[in-house]
Amino acid sequence: MNTFTPHLLVGKTAFVAGGTSGINLGIAKRFAALGARVAVVGRDPDKAARAAAEIGDDALGLSADVRDYDAIRAAMESIADQLGALDIVVSGAAGNFLAPILGMSANAFRTVVDIDLNGTFNVFRGCHDLLNRPGASLIAITAGQAVNAAVLQAHACAAKAGINQLVRVLALEWGPDVRVNGISPGPIADTEGMKRLAPDEAAQEAHYARIAMKRWGRIDEVAEAAVFLCSPAASYVTGTILDCDGGSQIGNASRIDLARGMT
Ligand code: COA
Ligand code: NAP
Repeated sequence: MNTFTPHLLVGKTAFVAGGTSGINLGIAKRFAALGARVAVVGRDPDKAARAAAEIGDDALGLSADVRDYDAIRAAMESIADQLGALDIVVSGAAGNFLAPILGMSANAFRTVVDIDLNGTFNVFRGCHDLLNRPGASLIAITAGQAVNAAVLQAHACAAKAGINQLVRVLALEWGPDVRVNGISPGPIADTEGMKRLAPDEAAQEAHYARIAMKRWGRIDEVAEAAVFLCSPAASYVTGTILDCDGGSQIGNASRIDLARGMT
């Protein structure tokens, strides 16, 4: 896809927390393809090294747990030392599994909130003095569960709702210097998230029924949304959550064929 000019991010440094696989790795690769210096962080050091190699020769892949403020802060300091002050920071690390509230221990609930919500606080709180200001762009990866309650998803619903509000508060507090936005992907094909949330045909059909565009999303489509949010084209966009979901959250698309049949 050639949506943006190929040199759009030359001279920029981008850091992607949770960028060692899936959607976030796709975002990191797209930033690099547009000329950015890119670093990614995940817990598994081998996976981080493999991701960096996939992104490009100059990319960095470090290991840190976003739940540990000091560890993620140290990783970001090291990245800023090696690649320069940060222009773009993406917070996308997440954990998820299907479980009803009564099948979820207090630690299970806490674990997902800790990775998704507290992790996003740690990444954004920790990066502020490492940012190239004014002009830096922060992007949180949230999800539709933030606004639409979903069974078996109490932890993710609570965590992602918290992320959406954190995005808005950060946009208010850091407004003059830093833009802060979120991307809410819909069901994206070939991802760990979809493997976990739609493990069988019935679950896949339930997801599919909600999608106005009647297809799964692609990783590269979410990456393009991220490029938009950190580009000059979004220079007056802050505090918003951009749904990149084929219309999954706007209503019930299960009878879409009926509507088409009546035209
Ligand atoms: N149902 C109910 N509880 C579960 C569960 C499930 N399917 N999977 C894990 N848990 C519970 C564990 O039993 C544990 O609770 P306990 O101590 O009371 O037994 C708690 O969650 C933490 O599990 P643990 O495996 O110790 O956490 P971790 O920090 O090693 O891993 C996870 C975090 C569980 C979220 C793990 O799935 C992960 O690393 N996920 C990352 C990848 C991912 O989820 N990608 C999709 C993003 S949308
Ligand atoms: P994924 O491939 O599992 O990516 C998760 C990433 O986060 C990995 O790099 C993982 O690496 C890292 N990570 C997990 N826990 C971490 C921790 N504690 N500290 C640091 N890094 C950690 O998942 P995905 O499906 O692509 O999802 C990516 C993002 O999109 C998530 O925020 C998810 O909620 C959101 N999203 C996904 C979908 C979808 O359809 N997949 C839909 C809506 C929203 P390690 O395991 O090595 O740590």
